[in-house]
Amino acid sequence: MNLMIIGPPGAGKGTQAKKVAEEFNLVQVAPGELMRRALNKGEELGLKARKYMEQGVLVPDEIIVELMEWRLSQPDAVQGAILDGFPRNRSQSRALDGIMARLDKSLDGVLFIDVPDDVVVERLSGRLLCKKCKKAYHLAFSPPKDESACDRCGGELYHREDDNPTTIRERLHTFHSGMDDLIEDYGQRGLIFRVDGNRDIEDVHRDLVGAVHSLVGSVGEKQ
Ligand code: AP5
Repeated sequence: MNLMIIGPPGAGKGTQAKKVAEEFNLVQVAPGELMRRALNKGEELGLKARKYMEQGVLVPDEIIVELMEWRLSQPDAVQGAILDGFPRNRSQSRALDGIMARLDKSLDGVLFIDVPDDVVVERLSGRLLCKKCKKAYHLAFSPPKDESACDRCGGELYHREDDNPTTIRERLHTFHSGMDDLIEDYGQRGLIFRVDGNRDIEDVHRDLVGAVHSLVGSVGEKQ
C-alpha cells in the first residue's frame, strides 16, 4: 500500500505520518526531512536545498524528483510507503505517476489533513523537534517534560530555522499555490480522504487510521 499525506505546513503531517507508518508497517518518505538531514551532515543535497528551504519556497523539481525516485526504490519501501511532502504541485504529481509506473507501484490513497492558516502559525511557532528520533513536540499542546531533551530518546530538542513568521507566511503561500490544484485532481481521481486536523492529535489519528483500514480492504480486493 502506498499513501500520501498532505496539508499545509504545520498541519501535523510529520506527526501523523510517523504514527500511521508504524501502525501499518510503511516507510515514511519525507523530502524535507531527508534534505535537513543531508544539510546537517554537510552533504551536497542539503547544501543545494538550503537557500530554498530558508526562504520557504520549493526546491527545484530536478533535485526533488531524483531524490524521491531513489528513496522509493530502496528495499525498505517495497512493503509500502507514506509520502510526506511530495508531490507539492502538478509537475511533481506527474513525475510521481512516472516514478510509480517505473517501480511498478500504485498510489492507493491521499490523506488530507485540513487545518486553517491561523492555526498553522500558532503550531509552528511553538514546535520543538528531536535531533535524534525526529519526534515533534509543541510547547503548549504536547510539551516535553524537559524543554531541552526528548522524552522518548533523550535527544536534543531544537526549533527549525524555517519556523519563523516570515518563512511560515511564504510556506503557506507556496502550499496554496501548488496544493489547491492537487487536492482537486486527487479528489477527481477518488483518492482523497479529508480529515479535520484542527483537533487533538489522537482524534485526528483515529480518523486517519479509519481511512487507511477502509483502503486496506479495497487494496486487498484489487489484488
Ligand atoms: P517540510 O519539512 O515538508 O515542511 P512543511 O510541509 O512546511 O511541513 P512541516 O514539517 O512544517 O509540518 P507538518 O505538517 O509535518 O507538522 P508537524 O507534524 O511537525 O518542508 C520544508 C521545506 O522543504 C519546504 O518549505 C521546501 O522548501 C522543501 N520541500 C519539502 N518538500 C518539497 C518538495 N516536494 N518539493 C520542493 N521542495 C520541498 O506538526 C507541527 C506542530 O504542531 C508540532 O509542534 C506538533 O507537535 C504540533 N501538532 C501536530 N498535530 C497537532 C494537533 N492535532 N493539535 C495540536 N498540535 C499539533
